[in-house]
Amino acid sequence: MSPIRPNANIVERFKAATPASAVLARRANELLPSGISHDGWGMDPYPIYVERARGPIKWDVDGNSYVDYFGGHGALLLGHNHPTVLAAVHRQLDLGTHFGSCHELGVRWAELVCRLIPSAERVRFTASGTEATLMALRIARAATGRAKFVRFKGHFHGWNDHMTSGHTNHFDGTPTAGVVAGIAEEVLLAEPNDTEGLSAIFETHKDIAAVIIEPSGASFGRIPIAPSFLRFLREITEASGALLIFDEVVTAFRTSPGGMQEVVGITPDLTTLAKILAGGLPGGAVAGRKDLLDLLDFNAMNHAGREKIQHPGTYNANPLSAAAGIATLEIIETTDACAKANDYSQRLRNRLNALLTDEQLPWAVYGSYSCFNIFTNPDNADISPESFNPYHHSARLMQIGRNTGHNPKVRLGLISNGVDVNGSLMGVVSSTHGDDELERTVDALANTIYSLRADGDLPARPK
Ligand SMILES: Cc1ncc(COP(=O)(O)O)c(C=O)c1O
Repeated sequence: MSPIRPNANIVERFKAATPASAVLARRANELLPSGISHDGWGMDPYPIYVERARGPIKWDVDGNSYVDYFGGHGALLLGHNHPTVLAAVHRQLDLGTHFGSCHELGVRWAELVCRLIPSAERVRFTASGTEATLMALRIARAATGRAKFVRFKGHFHGWNDHMTSGHTNHFDGTPTAGVVAGIAEEVLLAEPNDTEGLSAIFETHKDIAAVIIEPSGASFGRIPIAPSFLRFLREITEASGALLIFDEVVTAFRTSPGGMQEVVGITPDLTTLAKILAGGLPGGAVAGRKDLLDLLDFNAMNHAGREKIQHPGTYNANPLSAAAGIATLEIIETTDACAKANDYSQRLRNRLNALLTDEQLPWAVYGSYSCFNIFTNPDNADISPESFNPYHHSARLMQIGRNTGHNPKVRLGLISNGVDVNGSLMGVVSSTHGDDELERTVDALANTIYSLRADGDLPARPK
């Protein structure tokens, strides 16, 4: 797309550039609820339909190109279609996509996980992150004989019945649509970073099987967690006989090759994995202490005279996912891919904040590791871009979604300027993002701000 002209109406400009997407959206709306297959893909007036992608860029059906910060929902640390990963998948396609049998790739994949993730003594592969958190919880309950578990408000652990209330709504712990009350009652929703509150929960409840947490904070640190809080969690779970589960579906193989547990030096009992694990193909895993994963082991449970946890699953350790995962993890193990993505994100956050300062706009771009969040300050709080501290605004950040304040128009403005972030204006970076993408992103936000001002959505820049 050509650079946006000041005075262009953001919605009209988007529609003019995406007629083929509009046609597909009309067809999709006749067949799919909301026309989509993932709640995060919805967009007004309609989403873009993407045809192909390479490295940090994707192209839609109208031929528009975008700097991609969706990154396969975080799965693509190495960018789209990394040649080594592609070659591994092509090779496996020729050999077979599903053997219904054990295969060498499953062993090599597990070896890599155990080498990279500090807590991993044993691994069980699943087909998704949602399945991984479901299994981690089941292991924790079987191991401890306790029913309740602690989750943190705003933290996402997939969509299985145990993980739904308190993510974007139902912060009072009531069940979300379609979930039975009995399941929601076993969930103890806690405030992130609140040591006193959590101590009180552990005082009251002596039947807590586990605490599960996104260790960088909700949504990859959009609402950050203090490392000291993680240390506190390790202590209180150990003292009470509960298990600590790090949900590293996003952060493993990304914040560092060994994930957040390597960064902070805290070892959980169980770790849930997905996304980068399978190199952009579907896949997940639970990893952790041998004695806990033994609950899935026929011999160990026979020996112990206990019933094992059942775990079939048609696509567990699927050979194609294993091939992509091995190729990806080997690159992460032997190169500076994580550091490159982290470094780009830091430079981008700095540049975008410099732009906001220049524009005298009280927004902020913040985040850690390989992500960035554009905070459009819906309550007009007194903040400055460079000194914005998300800890001070945690409760509000939790409630900011894709329909809040300026977010929908900013997102559309960025798309119209060739940059794709998610509805909460969060971007995830790959190791293939470079200087060209950085400049394009800065220009896109600048043009979006000019358009919002021209359309009267934002006040004019003070003289
Ligand atoms: C932290 C976290 N846990 C679990 C999940 C669920 O993973 P999946 O989408 O593979 O089911 C996600 C997905 O975004 C996630 O971000």
